[in-house]
Amino acid sequence: MLHLDLSNVTPFLPTGWRTGEEKGLEKAHDHVLNGTGAGSDFLGWVRLPADYDKEEFARIQKAAQKIRSDSKALVVIGIGGSYLGARAVIETLTSNNFNLTRGEGTAIYFAGNGLSADGLNEVIDLVKDVDFSVNVISKSGTTTEPAIAFRIFKALLEEKYGKDGARERIYATTDAKRGALKGLADKEGYQEFVVPDNVGGRYSVLTAVGLLPIAAAGLDIEALMAGAREEMELLSKPGMDNPAWQYAAARHALYESGKRVEILAGYEPAFRFFAEWWKQLYGESEGKDGKGLFPASVEFTADLHSMGQFIQQGERLMFETVVRFDTAHTQLTIPDDPENVDGLNFLSGKSMAFVAERALQGVTLAHVDGGVPNILLTVPARDARSLGALIYFFEFACGVSGYLLGVNPFDQPGVEAYKNNMYALLGKPGYEKQKAELEKRLES
Ligand code: PA5
Repeated sequence: MLHLDLSNVTPFLPTGWRTGEEKGLEKAHDHVLNGTGAGSDFLGWVRLPADYDKEEFARIQKAAQKIRSDSKALVVIGIGGSYLGARAVIETLTSNNFNLTRGEGTAIYFAGNGLSADGLNEVIDLVKDVDFSVNVISKSGTTTEPAIAFRIFKALLEEKYGKDGARERIYATTDAKRGALKGLADKEGYQEFVVPDNVGGRYSVLTAVGLLPIAAAGLDIEALMAGAREEMELLSKPGMDNPAWQYAAARHALYESGKRVEILAGYEPAFRFFAEWWKQLYGESEGKDGKGLFPASVEFTADLHSMGQFIQQGERLMFETVVRFDTAHTQLTIPDDPENVDGLNFLSGKSMAFVAERALQGVTLAHVDGGVPNILLTVPARDARSLGALIYFFEFACGVSGYLLGVNPFDQPGVEAYKNNMYALLGKPGYEKQKAELEKRLES
């Protein structure tokens, strides 16, 4: 289904680079499939496209249907792995202007992924006068950003519908057994969905974490899972013809050759948030122990007019991974202009798809000439099945890549540092000593 082209990587690497990666790949593949490496408690995503909870899946579809029938808006509260996947899929399959394209359908707003009063107030203003529901997503239930947002939207719902009415409109996606949100959901009687214990946030898009908002957006979650399942079958086979092995090998060899940044480039505005999801996946999985490629992203051709200069001629730190969709949702033909003031009549009658493809080819050659290796990943269509495959491809390749790099791809110990400082500075009980130390530093 997906097609990986490494022809613009090979010239940058020594002959036999693939063979050099083979042993490491075999080991990494075994770690991912058989749980023989670090972080093996978090491999629940590997068989998820086949082994997912079918009863819960049916409940997700039912809940989504209810939301679509009784709500003009759904507020999805979560941060990091608890929202990026849903937003990535919803936008990629529809539009980065998703809510503007819905007409009378249910709008999806994301909240609790930052600490901006303006951001929260904007969502409050957008939903307060319409019927709305809330999907709060948090494994722990104590993550500051979503917890604050949930307080606010829960109160708004209770004020609008009363406690009983609000209960019917709150969907909690959280740990199956423990945590603050689990306790609250049990007590209040919210409908609950599960973040499986053995699936980390950045790998959770194909669980209820991603599936409920995606289904509430009216998208085909069956097809999404089917695409992921097909890719899972394909990638489970070891060997150098495994596309995930090839991608992992290329990026590892490029890292070893001195590259430090991987830029994910897309040519569809709708793809921008998928790149945000991808950045968390690779950034949190690989960026540790002083190692890792820094994952960056651009949207072409827009960003050629801002980042293009650096990519072409700046510090030679990066390589590009371009995601290209083979077919567009719609067609557009360039009109003729008798005055031809812009001199573009040589394009009259040509399709936008033709122009975009030529642009992609031209950009690739220019960047390769500028010393930027290029991985090209072609996806058949911007549809649910293809996207399911793409998600699984990047997840599997990420696990393999992390092991190839020699890190635990499934932990994120560094995320705690900012949280501890923030708790201390905000005066959370138990952080008194740290608070005094930090305040002293801030004064000096
Ligand atoms: O990938 C991760 O683990 C993180 O991005 C978490 O999903 C994020 O920190 C939110 O955590 P929680 O779901 O406990 O609120």
